[in-house]
Amino acid sequence: MDLSSSVARTVSEAGQSHLLQFWSELTPEEQAAMTRDLEAMNFREINGFFKSAMETSSGSKQEKMDARMEPVPRDVLGSVTRDRDSVRDWEAEGLQCISESKVSVLLLAGGQGTRLGVSYPKGMYDVGLPSHKTLFQIQAERIVKLQRLAEEKHKRKCCIPWYIMTSGRTMDSTKDFFACHNYFGLSKNNVVFFQQGMLPAMDYSGKIILEGKGKISMAPDGNGGLYRALGNQGIVEDMEQRGVEFIHIYCVDNILVKVADPAFVGFCVQKGADCGAKVVEKTNPTEAVGVVSKVDGRYQVVEYSEITLATAEKRSADGRLMFNAGNVANHFFSLSFLRDVVQTFEPQLQHHVAQKKIPYVDAQGRLIKPDKPNGIKMEKFVFDIFQFAKKFVVYEVLREDEFSPLKNADSQDGKDTPTTARHALMSLHHRWVLTAGGHFIDENGTRVPAIPSVSRSAAADRVSDAAHTNLKDGTDLPIKCEISPLVSYGGEGLEALVAGQEFCPTLVIDEKGVHELVKNGV
Ligand code: UD1
Repeated sequence: MDLSSSVARTVSEAGQSHLLQFWSELTPEEQAAMTRDLEAMNFREINGFFKSAMETSSGSKQEKMDARMEPVPRDVLGSVTRDRDSVRDWEAEGLQCISESKVSVLLLAGGQGTRLGVSYPKGMYDVGLPSHKTLFQIQAERIVKLQRLAEEKHKRKCCIPWYIMTSGRTMDSTKDFFACHNYFGLSKNNVVFFQQGMLPAMDYSGKIILEGKGKISMAPDGNGGLYRALGNQGIVEDMEQRGVEFIHIYCVDNILVKVADPAFVGFCVQKGADCGAKVVEKTNPTEAVGVVSKVDGRYQVVEYSEITLATAEKRSADGRLMFNAGNVANHFFSLSFLRDVVQTFEPQLQHHVAQKKIPYVDAQGRLIKPDKPNGIKMEKFVFDIFQFAKKFVVYEVLREDEFSPLKNADSQDGKDTPTTARHALMSLHHRWVLTAGGHFIDENGTRVPAIPSVSRSAAADRVSDAAHTNLKDGTDLPIKCEISPLVSYGGEGLEALVAGQEFCPTLVIDEKGVHELVKNGV
């Protein structure tokens, strides 16, 4: 097959002729696929992205940014601990909005899960809970439950539409998974999948990398690819048609995520915010979370990879880290702000540069897997639009209640692994049972000391770090306890099931009832 002269010319004018060096060795099918890929590519745009991304990521600019950073001021900050009296009001406001079907959720699930090392979408991962529920199922059931809570309270039917962003690599498997599981109890019409864009990986001189003789190395364009995808695929219009006014955006990997969190939504709505971010206190300077801060008077997340250690280690007079608003990748947007972003601001966003080890074919056509970074991937970030907000607010929550991301595979002393995610969820559910008046006993029938929940109990001050691990018999395993989201969204409604009772773990509470798996020999 001959390559059309217009494609060959475009490739050559873009300085990317090396992409065709193996053309004559390709099968007709490979040539057809390569032609499709080349025709779909906007080389002028890609070369422009490369140029400006490389300029922005230069070291001197980063140093300057460190000097221009300021912490989040108290007047835009709401906190579940410091503003405890207001949380119930915010929750009520959020639930009211949900009952009016004004709230939707948007899941960012286009990542490749490289660090976790699985070949399928991260949301399909089973972290080994007694129920073996996947992250997708846990999130879906939280949505189902929240709809029910809003309906019960306000006596009207409502729905929380769920928009799920996938990428070329995760779309088919994600959709199949939901279809196979009957959308986990949600209505199929209210689960909307859409796909983000991809960009080629490039070497340091701006040449697009080939990962096979006829295959360009492509990667999703970052979770900030969201805004282009929303525009391309009519998602903003879909939201408008459904009467959505507020959107909760979140990342797939946090097992504790409070999907459509009414308190967060209500806080942002009451403050009249068009954009908000949920944060937890960052306590360790080297923790791999971005920090929300002001740069030149505008809000921004400064990624852990973009901040110098000296800045990360700075402390305030109270001894806390100065930049401690740790981004948990949970954001609030009003629909009108999102529309402005999609229609006006998106093109102004710069790509960030991630240096990577990118497999490539050499001039002889051999596949090389480099052992040090040999090129870049370009990504936009979801929070890069904070700078355009007219009213930006920050909502601080407790890490042990709301943040335990799954990033890495299990390893000894590993951080953010399936084990830490599983333990965080069971530890939270353990605390819910204690707060609702239940007790745990060990295999000898002795009561395990109670440690009440920090957010719901009047005895909150007694909570210590021990609540995080709930040491039992000298081991660092949490008490095994799992509560289905269909029974409780955030610890509510458990008194009737557990108050005054003693349970021998493993305790599972689901829609069928309360089960002690060990006692029953399961
Ligand atoms: C992200 C945040 C970081 C935060 C941390 C908390 C961004 C850019 N960074 O970092 O500030 O402290 O979570 O856990 O948000 N995704 C896509 N498309 C892509 C790439 C990623 O949808 O092209 C999705 C992933 O599926 C995931 C989320 O974005 O749900 C976050 O991606 P990940 O690469 O895990 O971000 P982190 O570097 O961990």
